[in-house]
This record gives sequence, C-alpha cells and structure tokens, in this order.
Amino acid sequence: MTTLMAMGKILTGQIAIVTGASSGIGAATAVALARAGVDVLLAARREDRLAAVARAVESVGRRACVVAVDVAQPGSERLLLDAAERHFGRFDVVFANAGYGLERDVHLTDERDLRALFEVNFFASVALLRESARRLRAAGRGGHLLMCSSCLSKFSLPGHGAYAASKAAQESICRAMRFELLPYGIEVASVHPITTTTEFFAESAARSGLRGGTVPEHAPRWAVQPPERVADAIVDCLRNPRSEVWTSEIVRLSAALFNACPWIFDLILRREARRRARQLAHEAADAAGAPRH
Ligand SMILES: NC(=O)c1ccc[n+]([C@@H]2O[C@H](COP(=O)([O-])OP(=O)(O)OC[C@H]3O[C@@H](n4cnc5c(N)ncnc54)[C@H](OP(=O)(O)O)[C@@H]3O)[C@@H](O)[C@H]2O)c1
Repeated sequence: MTTLMAMGKILTGQIAIVTGASSGIGAATAVALARAGVDVLLAARREDRLAAVARAVESVGRRACVVAVDVAQPGSERLLLDAAERHFGRFDVVFANAGYGLERDVHLTDERDLRALFEVNFFASVALLRESARRLRAAGRGGHLLMCSSCLSKFSLPGHGAYAASKAAQESICRAMRFELLPYGIEVASVHPITTTTEFFAESAARSGLRGGTVPEHAPRWAVQPPERVADAIVDCLRNPRSEVWTSEIVRLSAALFNACPWIFDLILRREARRRARQLAHEAADAAGAPRH
C-alpha cells in the first residue's frame, strides 16, 4: 500500500505531446515517458532528429508520432493536437518545452529579438496549453499540462533579462491555469531546470553572436545536471502532481531566500557583474587582437 502510494498514478497507456523533443530535455523526457509506458507525439523543427528520438521511444515498446513544426507559426498548437487525436485517438499529457536562450544586455536587445524570444518561449507555450485545456475540458477526462520554465523564473541575471522575463511569464501563467483547471481534473505544472547539459548553450551563444556555447565555465559542478534528471522529475510529477518541478533543492531554497532578502542577491550580483564585465572586455580585446591586461 505504502509502495503504491509512493509510486503514484499509473501512466501506462497514456498519450503525451512533447515539444522541443528533438534534443535535450524534450528528447530525454520523451524517452523517460516511453519507459513509463506512455506513447509520445514528438514535435520540433528538425525532423531527422525527431526520427532518432522516435526510434528510442519505439525501442522500449511504445508508439511514437513525429510532427515537424515551428511552434512560433500561428495554428501550430491545433496542428499538434489534431495530429495526436488523429494518430492516437486522444492525448492526456502536454509538455510545452520548446524554447531557447538569448544572452544579451537588455539595453542592447532589439525589439525584433525580444519579440521572437517571447513568441517561442511564451506565446507558443501558452497557445498550446490553452488549446489543450479547452479540448481536455470538453473531453471531461482530466489530463496533465506542463511548461518548461527555468530556475531563472525566480531571479534574473545580467545578460539574461529577456530570457528570464519569458520564463517568469511562463511560471506566472501556469500558476493561474493550475487553479483555473483544478475543478476539471486537469493538473498544471511549471518545470524549473537549473543548468542542464543540452544544446541550449550552443544555440543561445549562436543566436547572441557569442563565442563558446558549452555549459558556462563558472557554473559550479553541483549546479549542472544531465537532461535525464529533469525528465525523471517530470515523470515523477505526472505520477505525483505538484505545482512546480525542481531538481535542485539548493537552487530552489536560494531563489526563495533571494526573493525574501533581495539585498543578499544584490551583493552576489555585484560580484557577478564585475566578473562578466571583465570577461566581455577580454573577449572584445581577443576579437580585436589586442593584448589582455
Ligand atoms: N539547458 C538549460 O540549462 C535549461 C535551463 C532551464 C530551462 N531550460 C529550458 O528547457 C527547454 C528545453 O531546452 P534544452 O535545454 O533541452 O535545449 P535544447 O537542447 O536546445 O532543446 C530545445 C528544443 O526546442 C526546440 N525548438 C526551439 N525553437 C523551436 C521552434 N521555433 N519550434 C519548434 N521547436 C523549437 C528545439 O528543436 P528544433 O531546433 O529541432 O526545432 C529543441 O528540440 C527550453 O524551454 C529552455 O528554456 C533549459
């Protein structure tokens, strides 16, 4: 009895939709879901990469359906849900995970880049969960909706203001949706990964016109995790629903402390601002071929 309660809800036979499933957290979640007995619709732009993840899902005995789509395109949410209903007959779980980072000071970020970031991270995720909620409510059998936010939804960092704002907006809307949909048996959760070893940093650097692109060198080892860790936490949340999915209690508690005592965070950020200024100056000097000081 105790073991059954710890295991939580049985997921076998459920149908999930995962966006951003061609790499990183989305791909790992699709495979973890399949291992938990869930069939998965995989969505992203790179079809070849989705096909490889589909093979991994099928290799553990579950069905996969691939939909190549840019989630920022209007109507992409209907396309995905229609595809799931056509292919599997229904859907139970939707994970709006597709997203990207931008590392640039806010005053240097132009309107077009800011809006493009929000189109993918925020508006596309909201459109998908909103339409999913309408269909699940009409079907009357409950369901589970998740959005991939970030630990940065709780505290912003220099150079990550636009990205953190998009993630805070995601968290905020999830919290309201959670209580709006509770009477209909539909669970909603936001996911708050810490630094995760995916293509995120390379993609973010490329978009931001920066060099590098691996996990930040200054990130402490304990604060870096593989995408499978997030995937397992998401599966656990489906079995035992909660409002927020975290994989680091230290970061979660630090975020709470920073919000309660902003002056502590200010002290830390002053040091970070100086470190970042030195790094940017070195990079600019390197780019110009000048000697470092
Ligand atoms: N990695 C981290 O440290 C970290 C930390 C906190 C939160 N997160 C969040 O985790 C989520 C997944 O990121 P990740 O770390 O797994 O990075 P990733 O490996 O770069 O994966 C991003 C996924 O999003 C998809 N995507 C991006 N733009 C898209 C678009 N316009 N249409 C459809 N799909 C799109 C990409 O697929 P295609 O390129 O094939 O379209 C890819 O599958 C993101 O929302 C990110 O903000 C990541």
